[in-house]
Amino acid sequence: MKLITPSMKMAEVLESNYLLLPVLSRFGIKLGFGEKTVRDICIEKNIDIPFFVAMLNTFSNENYFPEEEIHTFNVLAIVNYLRSTHTYYLQTLVPTIEQLIDTLAQSRSQHNRSLKSVKRYFREYKKELIDHLKQEDTVTFPYIEQIYYAYHGLSTHQRRNISKEYSMKMFKREHTNIDEKLLDLKNILIKYISGEYDEVVCNAIIFELFRLEKDIIDHTRIENTILLPLVAKMEQSLKCMKR
Ligand SMILES: [Fe+2]
Ligand SMILES: [Fe+2]
Repeated sequence: MKLITPSMKMAEVLESNYLLLPVLSRFGIKLGFGEKTVRDICIEKNIDIPFFVAMLNTFSNENYFPEEEIHTFNVLAIVNYLRSTHTYYLQTLVPTIEQLIDTLAQSRSQHNRSLKSVKRYFREYKKELIDHLKQEDTVTFPYIEQIYYAYHGLSTHQRRNISKEYSMKMFKREHTNIDEKLLDLKNILIKYISGEYDEVVCNAIIFELFRLEKDIIDHTRIENTILLPLVAKMEQSLKCMKR
């Protein structure tokens, strides 16, 4: 896929990859672009252009890495973006899938055993996902914010307030992949479904599971390859300042 640039028209960007639509929402960008370019919209919305373009490209191309721009990114902007992605999973994608699974269970296929296991498996997955996101929202991100303010504020008081119980090393060690179970879930439907079932609803579930899986893989990549090294570098500088 060709790289997205600031001079491209926003409508063309969406035309090239419609899955970017929720990414735009996370930046507060609404439809009705007219002939405006990516740059025009970023200026209008006060969005950092290199960061926004890097997020679009990261989402559109799994081999893309913003090598040159990464050091200019604001860590708080990355955290805000990741937080709004969590909200999107919990308030939009997960309830959509849940509702579809309920519809399937209530349809004529209610006695289908493989569909019952889909429902149970998704319930378990949802719990795992919520725990993962909660850990980041309540521990990782607040810690990163502390590091950011201490690093930029440079005051001894702010440096002293940084949690000693947490570090990016811990984040790296504990950060699990939350997309793997989705593959199993898709496989229950794709490989092993049998008997009577509502095809339209079942296909819609598979489509949404693919969408969630792709979004989560890109999300995790941003956490591991962009956020983690940036914050680890700040941590290191703060340690040197203490000496
Ligand atoms: Fe996350
Ligand atoms: Fe994560």
